[in-house]
Amino acid sequence: TFALPEGSEILPDAEAVARRAAECLIAVCAEAPNERIAICLSGGSSPKRLYALLAGPEYLERVPWPRIHWFFGDDRVVPWDDPLSNVRMVREAFGHGAPIPATHLHFIPSDLGPEAGARAYAEALRAFYGADELDPERPLFDLVLLGLGEDGHVASLFPGKPALAEQTAWAAPVPEAGLAPFVPRITLTYPALASSRRALFLVTGEAKQDPLRRLSKGAPLPAACVTSRGAVTWLIDRAAAGQ
Ligand code: 6PG
Repeated sequence: TFALPEGSEILPDAEAVARRAAECLIAVCAEAPNERIAICLSGGSSPKRLYALLAGPEYLERVPWPRIHWFFGDDRVVPWDDPLSNVRMVREAFGHGAPIPATHLHFIPSDLGPEAGARAYAEALRAFYGADELDPERPLFDLVLLGLGEDGHVASLFPGKPALAEQTAWAAPVPEAGLAPFVPRITLTYPALASSRRALFLVTGEAKQDPLRRLSKGAPLPAACVTSRGAVTWLIDRAAAGQ
């Protein structure tokens, strides 16, 4: 075993991680009753079970669907029906059971290409937020869900890539991904992710031991630099924690 990031919770398996994340999401919504809620979704495979769980019999009635807006932390620049698309993944994982109003799913406009797509996504976020500048007292997102890449990336903030340095724009183009699939991406930037009431990493499976071990040794991996107005919590299963 190795030291895990501050704010870590070790859970038995991926199912327990998904359930804990679902409870966190419900709690975040309950903390702001009657208000509009903005949740930033992660892509990849780790959150699929969470999304299915939310739309399933146990959680369906507990999620305040009409007041939640769903955003994406990143996406691949491919058509929305492409197997690599996070839009497709999220749609399939939520399935037909999730009563999400069509105007509450804010896809990244990947059809515009990386540069114009990033600009248009940032514009859509600004319109939703209602201001051009992020007010530290009023976070953009209530909850940001994140995954950990095997190279330590988060959203599509890959090691050594220019998007890491973006200080002002809310979204950035990533013309070259640092890891497969090697398609261009559009990603939220650190300042946008940081404008959140809470951030939650979902980290499961043996393949995540290596980046977690490197994080524990203080390696400056992109995931280590995510901040939030509130807690950054790492939900890690035993396989990822090397236990
Ligand atoms: C993406 C992501 C990315 C992901 C990690 C972990 O679209 O690729 O949002 O940051 O969270 O790569 O991916 P897995 O969950 O598939 O391991």
